[in-house]
Amino acid sequence: MQEKFPDTFLWGASTSAYQVEGAAYEDGKKASQQDYINRESYKLKGFATADIASDHYHRYKEDVSLMKEMGLTCYRFSIAWSRVFPDGIGKVNEKGIQFYRNLIDELLKNNIEPIVTLYHYDLPMVLVEKYDGWISREVVKDFEYYARYVISEFKDKVKYWTTINEQSIIVQYIDRKNYIPEKYQGNNQIRYQINHHMNLAHATACKLVHELVPNGLVGAALGYAPVYPLTSDPKDCMAAQNAHDLRNAFFLDAYFKGEYTKSAMIYLEEHGLAPIIEEGDLELMKEGYSDFLALNYYYSDCAKYCPDDGTKEIRYNGVNLTGKKGEMSGFETHPGFYEMCKNPKLDTTDWDWSIDSIGLEYLLRDIYARYGKPLMITENGIGAFDTLVEDKAIHDPYRINYLRDHIIAMKAAIDKGVEMMAYCPWSAIDLLSTSNGVKKRYGFIYVDRTDDDPKELARYKKDSYYWYKKVIKTKGNDLGDI
Ligand code: BG6
Repeated sequence: MQEKFPDTFLWGASTSAYQVEGAAYEDGKKASQQDYINRESYKLKGFATADIASDHYHRYKEDVSLMKEMGLTCYRFSIAWSRVFPDGIGKVNEKGIQFYRNLIDELLKNNIEPIVTLYHYDLPMVLVEKYDGWISREVVKDFEYYARYVISEFKDKVKYWTTINEQSIIVQYIDRKNYIPEKYQGNNQIRYQINHHMNLAHATACKLVHELVPNGLVGAALGYAPVYPLTSDPKDCMAAQNAHDLRNAFFLDAYFKGEYTKSAMIYLEEHGLAPIIEEGDLELMKEGYSDFLALNYYYSDCAKYCPDDGTKEIRYNGVNLTGKKGEMSGFETHPGFYEMCKNPKLDTTDWDWSIDSIGLEYLLRDIYARYGKPLMITENGIGAFDTLVEDKAIHDPYRINYLRDHIIAMKAAIDKGVEMMAYCPWSAIDLLSTSNGVKKRYGFIYVDRTDDDPKELARYKKDSYYWYKKVIKTKGNDLGDI
């Protein structure tokens, strides 16, 4: 067993552009599909839009200085394609790219290593209007245009690149993570077609980093939940294996082997869901190899036997929109393959996400044993209703407990031989949740706003901020109370 985390280990935190920046239509930026989705759909549910979010665009210096004080040695964030190329391709938006130059310089000045994600759900809306976005193959060459520009621009300043955020989650929540035109509603094949185009875009970006960035390292950021069987009944165990193949291996094999998991592909073909793959695609996926895998881990999943007896139809995961436990609207079902279900052994967050730190050790060891590549955590955290109390304090022991347990699990994986590069909990600062407004908070830094009222957006340090500061200072040796 190693006494400590490796000296090279990076301690950071994460955000994504549309969730934190705001300034959605400023300095030449045009709408991304997320600006649109949040404005047109989430606003009706009483959630904040992405227009202001946490106003990081204007306050990045203050935010970086708070990160520095917390001791972060890396910061994972994404670049908004629609800020750099408001029309998707063509003329660069000078003010937009300047924001990222300033942010990256500010980070480097403060000895914080940037980990850049090229794409985090926010396709320029123009490309949706032009050709239905990721549904069309055309997007791959436009992504290459954007990625080539950004990677060339920062090749001497950014070593760590992640390509596309959470393809697995995009397949599940297709119309929350993409704007899907009316004519495609209910078409499940496009889930896998979009994913295939993303695999091509991912491979292209990997090749670009290898070509352009001296010593650059690149990988996808995958949303990952290990799948346990509901019981020890072999039928449930088989269902868990099937679910693993379609929900996890399907992405891992694409990144690391440049191929699709056979069992999953056969199921998709039998049900008319398989993506159209053109000549040369699999070669490209092989050429665009990954140096590491970034993982976003929040919860584990559970699966049970689901016979193909005509009583159930294919469906995908629901979501809890209220923050009241038990209000999640249904589980993914693939008759003849598996049905996802609640794990009766685990407690959940208010939004029905199971809390399972052991799941982190389990998945890290499993992935490392199968593919042998270094891993980093680019997201991990608990969404909660935080309360600002007197003296501008925020007492969030639930967050400290959650993160502590997960750091212990990650260390246990390292002790069993897993190569870990970094830990970046979600999120550095409070931001707009993807499906639950700003009331569902994840940050170490509280942003004083509500869904209805952006107020002054003042920043306050939560208890977890002070706790994580000590964790980083002691390089993960002291995980005790503040
Ligand atoms: C991950 C995403 O799926 O989970 C983030 O990469 C997201 O963008 C995070 O914010 C938490 O999810 P949510 O829906 O609670 O914001």
